[in-house]
Amino acid sequence: MEQKTFDKRVAIVTGGAQGIGLGLTRALLGAGYAVAMFDLKQDVMNAVIDEAGPDGERLMGIKVDVTNSGQVRDAVARVTHNWKTPDVLVNNAGATRDKRITKMSEEDWDFVIDVNLKSQFLCAREVIPGMIDQGHGRIVNISSRAWLGGFGQCNYSAAKGGVVSFTRTLAIELAKHGITSNAIAPGAIDTPILAPLSEEQLDRIRGTIPVGRLGRPDDIAHAMLMFASPQASYITGQTIYVCGGRSLSSPSV
Ligand SMILES: NC(=O)c1ccc[n+]([C@@H]2O[C@H](COP(=O)([O-])OP(=O)(O)OC[C@H]3O[C@@H](n4cnc5c(N)ncnc54)[C@H](O)[C@@H]3O)[C@@H](O)[C@H]2O)c1
Repeated sequence: MEQKTFDKRVAIVTGGAQGIGLGLTRALLGAGYAVAMFDLKQDVMNAVIDEAGPDGERLMGIKVDVTNSGQVRDAVARVTHNWKTPDVLVNNAGATRDKRITKMSEEDWDFVIDVNLKSQFLCAREVIPGMIDQGHGRIVNISSRAWLGGFGQCNYSAAKGGVVSFTRTLAIELAKHGITSNAIAPGAIDTPILAPLSEEQLDRIRGTIPVGRLGRPDDIAHAMLMFASPQASYITGQTIYVCGGRSLSSPSV
């Protein structure tokens, strides 16, 4: 494929249209990156690009289901063709379908494993050959504090635990190519993913967070920018909690 000259560092953010992903997209844009959002919501991505004004030239919104290998292949090829091989991949897309195990269908299990875990494998597998060729890369995978275990979340918790193991293994395999792989385990962050929770449930969660508030997408963006930076070449295979201290003591019950 023809490689064009493009002088910006390039990042992909999956699920980049809203919530934490939008915070990550904006943070990377603010740090000077060109950012491709991979998301199901084309209208929302178009609005994000419009709102960015002149900076919108450094944004791309590609409609892609990140659980579909063909769509992921085409989307990564588009980014590489229009800009260049990505420097940063942030695997952020995720979803929940909470039910206790006796009520959980096979479809609930497969859906949550696919969106949260398989998608990270598909996207990483697609960008890594280019990163190896260019001799550097940063992969940042979004896990969750819920990987420690969470009532009604055997599918989500298993997927997010898988993300931690996946991240560690990529770090081992890719270190010699100048590619790092790290994970972030957010606590409760105020985004649409919390919409199914009642005010009472949210209050109960707030009461278990030592810093006394829900997190914000920006809180996750700070950790992501640290892992993504060229200076972070000696940090790999790590999972950092960004959860207001909630991982220190409280179980997810
Ligand atoms: N918000 C929290 O409290 C919290 C806590 C821990 C971890 N996380 C994780 O952070 C990440 C972002 O969560 P959020 O709260 O911003 O969620 P969100 O629901 O607000 O946003 C998720 C985004 O992913 C996109 N998406 C979902 N499935 C997709 C698919 N198959 N292909 C492409 N895009 C897809 C959605 O369209 C949406 O834009 C997820 O991995 C989530 O598990 C969130």
